[in-house]
Amino acid sequence: MGYRYSNVKIRVIEAVNSIILKNIGSLISYNTCQKKVISYSNIEIAIENDKIIEIGKNLGSCDNIIDCKSNIVTPGFVDPHTHPVFVNRRNNEFIRRIAGESYEKISLDGGGIINNIQELRDVEEHILFDIVKRRMDTFLKMGTTTIEAKSGYGLDTDSELKSLSVLKKVSDNHAIDIVPTFMGAHTFPNEFLENKNGFVDLICDEMIPAISDQGIAVFNDVFCEKGYFSPSQAKRILNVGKKYGLQPRLHADEFSNSNAAKLAAEVKAVSADHLMAVSDEGIIKMAKNNVIGILLPGTTFSLGRTNYAPFVTLREKGVEIAIATDFNPGSCFIKSMPFIMSLSCIYMKVPILEALKACTYTAAKSLGLHKKIGSIEQGKNADILIWNFDDINLIPSHFLPNPISKVIKDGNLILQLD
Ligand code: NIG
Ligand code: FE
Repeated sequence: MGYRYSNVKIRVIEAVNSIILKNIGSLISYNTCQKKVISYSNIEIAIENDKIIEIGKNLGSCDNIIDCKSNIVTPGFVDPHTHPVFVNRRNNEFIRRIAGESYEKISLDGGGIINNIQELRDVEEHILFDIVKRRMDTFLKMGTTTIEAKSGYGLDTDSELKSLSVLKKVSDNHAIDIVPTFMGAHTFPNEFLENKNGFVDLICDEMIPAISDQGIAVFNDVFCEKGYFSPSQAKRILNVGKKYGLQPRLHADEFSNSNAAKLAAEVKAVSADHLMAVSDEGIIKMAKNNVIGILLPGTTFSLGRTNYAPFVTLREKGVEIAIATDFNPGSCFIKSMPFIMSLSCIYMKVPILEALKACTYTAAKSLGLHKKIGSIEQGKNADILIWNFDDINLIPSHFLPNPISKVIKDGNLILQLD
């Protein structure tokens, strides 16, 4: 550690074995026993090495005390859906959308994901490493302490392996923890535009075995959408992935209902993500099969749309909800989970405490990590945020600047912004 992002130094400020957080205004976290988000006052947190060892009153003294200045303390954010392994953003498409074109129309005209492929194939691994590492600095600065990250802009075996290798190296050399997902099924590269099933064969017969041998990716994700992968192609790719130990996730029913949420339930995917156009039937099947719905309001917002995913219906029908940024080079450039919380509360009518749970505990659950991270509880990893204000209700209306004062990751004070 010791690299810079703008004027903020991202490094372990002081490596110490134990810390006590004192003068906490309120500690707000999901509680696994009580199964709800609880706000505690008059409470302190003791950390030893990378773990929370005690939460209670008057925990005594210690050489390293952090004064929380009566402000709120929450778990670090877990961002469960991002695409950070690319070279350049497609800024021109953002301008075209402002002028009235849609994401789908731009893609049909030769824009979209396909335009990130050549530069990803050409870039040297150490350059890509630097690019992705810098992006992680910003995520961490915004309070994200664990992040899911997908490959999917190389779309040949070598560059997918390169993308996943970069994710592993960045995770090993950065305070943030990255959970890697293989997304070879992101779009069809130029050489397969006339032979789409040939690309599905390549993914199933060559890429997935190679990715599995490499041993980095945990999940396998497919963009199941009109013009991209059909439900039957997605089903094949996800089932082959399962045989190789890659757990399925799915980009489902983003622009139109293609029964992808139903497919997510059928293949027992961990999550179905986007869901702007999900059907009632899809929602019911998701609930029945414990598929977590990951909502991405930053994408709806950045695309200039108003059809946010139906949070209220999903919750009513019993679907567990996580919330993520969907940071990517085309449809959403947002890295800030606090801002994503704002969008969730304002546009999807997510109650503030539920939004916090969705961005921490349930997000961790969608990555299979909820026993270690996602809440402030004894025995869990010390991934903790200290904010600049004393009321959780201020998060959704606090747009700028970054409202987080300190980030603690694995028991280390990583970032001090005040
Ligand atoms: O989740 N939907 C597919 N993937 C991204 C968009 C990627 C891109 O446009 O580069 C998404 O929105
Ligand atoms: Fe996505």
